[in-house]
Amino acid sequence: MDAIVYVSNTGFTAKYAKLLTLETSIPNYTLEEAKKNLKKGSEIVFLGWIMGGVISGFKKAKRRYKIKCVAGVGMDSPKNETGEYLANKNKIKDIPTYYLQGGFNMGRLTGVYGVMMRNMLKQLQMKKEKSKEDVEFEKQISKGFDKVKMENLQLVLYEIRKAAKE
Ligand SMILES: Cc1cc2nc3c(=O)[nH]c(=O)nc-3n(C[C@H](O)[C@H](O)[C@H](O)COP(=O)(O)O)c2cc1C
Repeated sequence: MDAIVYVSNTGFTAKYAKLLTLETSIPNYTLEEAKKNLKKGSEIVFLGWIMGGVISGFKKAKRRYKIKCVAGVGMDSPKNETGEYLANKNKIKDIPTYYLQGGFNMGRLTGVYGVMMRNMLKQLQMKKEKSKEDVEFEKQISKGFDKVKMENLQLVLYEIRKAAKE
């Protein structure tokens, strides 16, 4: 494996990429940095933050590199979002695909994404009859949370070790 390449908006995906480097010593680059530092056709693990089910940067990365494993980083519970769902949604075939729970941080969201999420929170706060899920979601996005931890990376690490033996 030549590198871990990632696209992160508010830092959670970057944190996962750095944990992978810590564990494997494989260097990590943002997709931008990779353009300068990594040859076309290099073997990579790709990590991208999820927006509406789409793994940011995946399409671009796929045109340039040989992706051996891909993971989408979102805020949903791993009970609701799976690698299988992401593979279908992003039309990924023949690449092991995983879901990693990242977190949420309103303070780090700028531009149109910030406006979108602040509106979503406002609407939720104004809602009269809230379901249990609504209450939980409102708490999560108003307070923010961080679920990034090494143990979530077990399956991705397994893919990296498997690729090293090929
Ligand atoms: C506009 C927008 C859409 C999002 N859509 C999803 C989604 O479909 N599924 C999900 O699990 N998380 C979704 N999220 C949450 C982010 O994927 C989550 O906060 C992630 O950890 C961000 O990673 P980053 O810090 O590397 O940018 C969305 C966030 C924003 C701002």
